[in-house]
Amino acid sequence: MYPYLPVYIGLAVIVVAVVLQNKYQILQFLIFQVNDFMGGKGSKAAVNMNKKLHEKARCAIYPRTKDIKRFVVPDSKVSWTVPFPEYKPVDFTSEGVKAGPVWADKDIREPNAPVIKFNCIDGVINRTSFTGKYEIVNKCPRNPEGRTGLCGRGSLGRWGPNHAADPIVTRWKNSEKKILQFVAVQRKDNGEWAIPGGMVDAGEVVSVTLRREFGEEALNTFEAPPEEKVHIEKSLDKLFHSGTEVYKGYVDDPRNTDNAWMETVAMNFHDENGDSVGLFKLNAGDDAMGVQWMDITRQTKLYASHEDFIKTVAQRHKATW
Ligand SMILES: *[C@@H]1O[C@H](CO)[C@@H](O)[C@H](O)[C@H]1NC(C)=O
Repeated sequence: MYPYLPVYIGLAVIVVAVVLQNKYQILQFLIFQVNDFMGGKGSKAAVNMNKKLHEKARCAIYPRTKDIKRFVVPDSKVSWTVPFPEYKPVDFTSEGVKAGPVWADKDIREPNAPVIKFNCIDGVINRTSFTGKYEIVNKCPRNPEGRTGLCGRGSLGRWGPNHAADPIVTRWKNSEKKILQFVAVQRKDNGEWAIPGGMVDAGEVVSVTLRREFGEEALNTFEAPPEEKVHIEKSLDKLFHSGTEVYKGYVDDPRNTDNAWMETVAMNFHDENGDSVGLFKLNAGDDAMGVQWMDITRQTKLYASHEDFIKTVAQRHKATW
């Protein structure tokens, strides 16, 4: 009656097996699509970046040192909730920070150190974290994302969150509007290309930091002749008038320690028609070796989390990626 029945059954079994095997991936794919849809175009909310375990914040050798080695923390022991009795983080604070410049706190572990108010705006210093309330353990703030293998402040000035701002200034490479370019500066300290961001000064609002850092690092406004300065300021006004938030929160940065860490606000300022920023004369400032319009491609290698930021920006503008 059904001569091909065994064949049909065999095929059905294969189909079911394939579906089952892929079920997980299909589910995951669907979840990603829904996520994309909810957090995508038009949403003002920061992009929900996949939360990653400390990766850069567990780099073997602390940046700009030769021999400061972090205590090795396995993936499974990053979280403070996992007991790790053998844990003995290396205590390191750079000489530059110890010297007590204006951007650095005093050592709160010293007996007569001035009191720092954490988890609030302490005088003019913003000590609140985007991650919520962080814990204070033995007088020191504790990294909300877990262990890093190093305690003290490393080369970061503030105990707890160190706030930065990253302006991502973009334009189209040409009239096809397929490839997006952004203003990148080459850092003097390690030669890596990066977004021309910087630390939020005490008492400064982020919008001012974004503009100031871009002006200083990518346009070298310090050294521009006065009449050019006026022109630059006007263009900057126009460009920085409207931006979209790309990310705000904790950053997995190689300088992070158990007691001090980077947080940032990354904003995109886009020149759709290439008639404002496109006309800027880029000029590397003090902290930079070079500055350029860099194509955003899958291969673009950037400092710390900057790679994730420009990827998000490219996707937002539906650029080739
Ligand atoms: C302080 O930082 C928090 C995030 O940690 C931010 O939401 C808030 O706007 C900042 N406040 C000021 C006055 O800059």
